[in-house]
Amino acid sequence: MRFDSPRTILQGAGSRHQLHTYIEYSKKILIVTDSYLASSGILPKLDNAIIFSGVQPDPTDTNVAEGFDLATNHHADTIIAMGGGSPIDCAKAIRHRLGKAQLIAIPTTAGTGSEATPVMVITDETAGVKRMTRDHSLLPDVAIVDHELSATMPRPLTAHVGVDTLTHGMEAYVSQKRHNLSNSMAVHCIERCHKYLRRAWLNGNDMEAREGMAIAALEGGLAFGNSSVALVHGMSRPLGALFHIPHGLSNAVLLAEVTRFSFEGAEHLYNEIAAFLHLKPGLNNLIQYLENLNRDLEVPRLRDCCNNDLDLFNQLIPKMAHDALASGSPANNPRVPTAEQIEAIYRAAW
Ligand SMILES: [Fe+2]
Repeated sequence: MRFDSPRTILQGAGSRHQLHTYIEYSKKILIVTDSYLASSGILPKLDNAIIFSGVQPDPTDTNVAEGFDLATNHHADTIIAMGGGSPIDCAKAIRHRLGKAQLIAIPTTAGTGSEATPVMVITDETAGVKRMTRDHSLLPDVAIVDHELSATMPRPLTAHVGVDTLTHGMEAYVSQKRHNLSNSMAVHCIERCHKYLRRAWLNGNDMEAREGMAIAALEGGLAFGNSSVALVHGMSRPLGALFHIPHGLSNAVLLAEVTRFSFEGAEHLYNEIAAFLHLKPGLNNLIQYLENLNRDLEVPRLRDCCNNDLDLFNQLIPKMAHDALASGSPANNPRVPTAEQIEAIYRAAW
């Protein structure tokens, strides 16, 4: 068993103000972010930093190349990633190509947990595929989890990344790569989602709930970064690549149907998850919970994310099933599906 995490994790309101401690010896810094955050005025103001704000949602290999050129020309020895999963993943790829540079991740959405994982997802534009890479060198050195940064997340984003967080906890817990320490993180991630997700969605200024979800996201990242994600994430990436559904939402629309399929592969583990969610055991209770959660948080249906274009969806199902299997994530699922079974789950989730 092995458990990896950032060297340092700062957590708490205002912890972002301790950033300077970790860049004391940095000569040149590249801040990787998106255009929204760049214009928001919350980026750290540093004399020796330049800003790369060209990261798009679902970062591409082109974004990475651009950021890498900037970092090289600037001789950056520190990369600060600030934003949701997209800037953080892009920064991981840039640091990976640079070789030696310190990576500090400051998440502004409570969701992906990317600040604490050795995993990134970068879209290969030529192939039309979202590629997941896992490598120890991708793990950020420092993660600064300051939930004050997530307080302005709008309701839909809170819902989508929140259900993604729950998905991380559940998938890590049932994964074939589960182990004792990843389980500890997964259990607390799931329990915190149960306690805080609805509250954070109902009232974005409920700072106790925002903090709860920020910690849940961190725990979810530590859980699946050391265990793995599974079939939900395997099936969601093709939806992101082909229909441009954001990461969190693409998982949220699949979670219930994938759980229905996977349950028989690890009944006792899913029943434990039901208990963490204060439910009685049984598939139906768990499915009901997940469906109610999506309904209450106003998560759209898959069909709404695909412009209700069933013909196009059906046409792309074989490619999506193929790409899902090729990603490797379904092999970690407690019940390993065939391509035909994945196709059936896509149809059921529609
Ligand atoms: Fe995720």
